Amino acid sequence: MEKLAERIRELKERKNAVILAHYYVDGFIQDVADFVGDSLELARKAKSTDADIIVFCGVYFMAETAKILNPEKKVLIPYYKAGCLMADMAIAEEIEEFRKQNPDFAVVTYVNSSADVKAVSDVCCTSANAVKIVESLEEEKILFVPDRNLGSYVASKVKGKEIYLWEGYCPIHDKLRVRDVEERKRKGGVFIAHPECREEVRKLADFVGSTSQIVRFVKETDASRVIVGTERETIHHLKKVRPDVEFEVAYDGFICDQMKLITPERLLKALEREQFEVFVDEEVADKAREAIERMLALS
Ligand code: 13P
Ligand code: SF4
Repeated sequence: MEKLAERIRELKERKNAVILAHYYVDGFIQDVADFVGDSLELARKAKSTDADIIVFCGVYFMAETAKILNPEKKVLIPYYKAGCLMADMAIAEEIEEFRKQNPDFAVVTYVNSSADVKAVSDVCCTSANAVKIVESLEEEKILFVPDRNLGSYVASKVKGKEIYLWEGYCPIHDKLRVRDVEERKRKGGVFIAHPECREEVRKLADFVGSTSQIVRFVKETDASRVIVGTERETIHHLKKVRPDVEFEVAYDGFICDQMKLITPERLLKALEREQFEVFVDEEVADKAREAIERMLALS
């Protein structure tokens, strides 16, 4: 593995490439990456990099967001089929139809969505800034797309807005049940949850936040045991931050298979062959960029 890491580092230097990785990808990839973060931090990083090539180790919508923010740069994803299951639960035509029938609504779209959907939205958000973004809008009526769980979390925090929820969800976060948490809690410790978890599960949480907010919480916790209500690989980073804490994932199958399609070998090939390049239709990208930039300005 050390040889593989060396080869990746050497190619990265030679090609002036930057490797951005989400907390859910394989631990080896997190360790060779230049930057590891949640979707908001990665979007910011993608915007500020002066590298010629961005190799995005995450799912497709994340690489697409990086491309939209950097149309002149080469953006690569090590495996083009690594998609987000939730992102596939909304299509642009349906949102446009809703807009036609409900012109007084603002459409707030979670970044876990396609460029086409972003392009027909007023503003994007991530799980780290969704509450802030919705609060900052003048419109009272909001359509929140596509995650009904993050949407219901926002609705519980924001007063004076009518929030309509799209019927999308993350099958991996949505699968966590109250009984899983209660079972783990019997051994003690605090429970932290991603807002993509169901409402009844979030109610049991000592802290709810995006992956980077979870990392910040763990840095400062007094607890000696933490039950992690998000993708299992996040624990790779949490252990580095707090080697003194015991971590347990909230249910055994808390794995995003899509993120696992990004393997160390595919990362090496991506650098060697400069594959798979991400392209976004220019007109779609221009419209989607407005929604993403508006989010970045507001958060
Ligand atoms: P973050 O916004 O915490 O990066 O989460 C993205 C995601 O896909 C969670 O499932
Ligand atoms: Fe998408 Fe769920 Fe995977 Fe996150 S964990 S990338 S929301 S499928």
